Amino acid sequence: METVLITGGAGLVGSWVARGLLEQGYKVIVYDNFAHYISPFHNRIKNYLDLRFEGIISKVTFERGDTTNISHTRRVINHHRPTYILHLGGMPVADLSNKHVEEAVESILIGTINVLEIIKDLEYIKKFVFVSSSMAYGDFTEIPCAENHQMRPKDIYGGSKYAGEIMTQTFARRFGIPISIVRPSAIYGPWDINRRVSQIFVENALLGKELRLDGGGKLVLDFTYVEDAAQGLILALLKPQAIGEVFNITFGRGYSLLEFAKILKDIEPSLIFRVVDDRDEHRPLRGALSIEKAKRMLGFSPCYPLERGLKLYVDAYKKLGILNNG
Ligand SMILES: NC(=O)c1ccc[n+]([C@@H]2O[C@H](COP(=O)([O-])OP(=O)(O)OC[C@H]3O[C@@H](n4cnc5c(N)ncnc54)[C@H](O)[C@@H]3O)[C@@H](O)[C@H]2O)c1
Repeated sequence: METVLITGGAGLVGSWVARGLLEQGYKVIVYDNFAHYISPFHNRIKNYLDLRFEGIISKVTFERGDTTNISHTRRVINHHRPTYILHLGGMPVADLSNKHVEEAVESILIGTINVLEIIKDLEYIKKFVFVSSSMAYGDFTEIPCAENHQMRPKDIYGGSKYAGEIMTQTFARRFGIPISIVRPSAIYGPWDINRRVSQIFVENALLGKELRLDGGGKLVLDFTYVEDAAQGLILALLKPQAIGEVFNITFGRGYSLLEFAKILKDIEPSLIFRVVDDRDEHRPLRGALSIEKAKRMLGFSPCYPLERGLKLYVDAYKKLGILNNG
């Protein structure tokens, strides 16, 4: 049984990857500092860790730790001797990164360099995957945005991710580490607690609160259901042909916020939304990403268009029932 260590594995994406890897017979080590990015008082889903790992808690080995602490991270890696490392750990919210600059740079960039430094001489590592972001591109000047698009990040998060990519490539060239880089975008689904736009919209819809669509509702994102993202990450991790390559891992279609709201209204007809014209000029202009490379080289095949993924997300909330009392 081969071992996969997932940094940031207790998070939204990591928990789905952990589940997928267990199903494929891998031993899973979650290495996570259990961070909160918004105040726990503002989080409606208090038992999110139980929910994320429902039915698999006893099958996963949890190690609390922080990649910014190189000594501890080294001890954990040396102890478990993982064959594969999926590196998700790091501040995941672009807006927050511009306020918490040091935390963003340390967790995203220094944490990545630490793991690379630890594994550079470990012969048993078959693959290290750095999970970057579509925010590393900055404004999309071509849509769909392919992996060879220019890289001009516009915020600390995107800049730190891009720097992490460069260091991952550098360690790979200098020390021969087998690596891949993955750029996801706008992942949504159970159980995100970082209050990204999809979580806010779904919760407000179920609470009967009005949705506010900034920028005329024209902002376009490649919304990706978390199970599709996990499928792509697992392929990039395990497929030998992914070594040395960069992949966009998204659904591969852009939806405007207005389209998002209309799809949500089809699911929750009582939903009310208001379109507002002001736009945050600092936010990169984005849209669909090209996933042709991941389809061709990895056999990536996302199955959740927004209509389907949102329905699942709303149904999960309804089953939970926590929004019933407002
Ligand atoms: N969710 C998205 O839309 C999206 C899009 C592109 C890229 N990503 C990237 O995917 C990764 C996972 O994102 P997510 O949405 O699951 O976020 P999340 O907040 O749900 O999960 C991140 C996890 O990483 C842990 N963590 C953070 N810093 C750490 C550190 N230094 N050491 C150990 N653990 C640490 C946190 O405790 C958390 O459990 C992040 O790297 C994020 O930047 C996410």
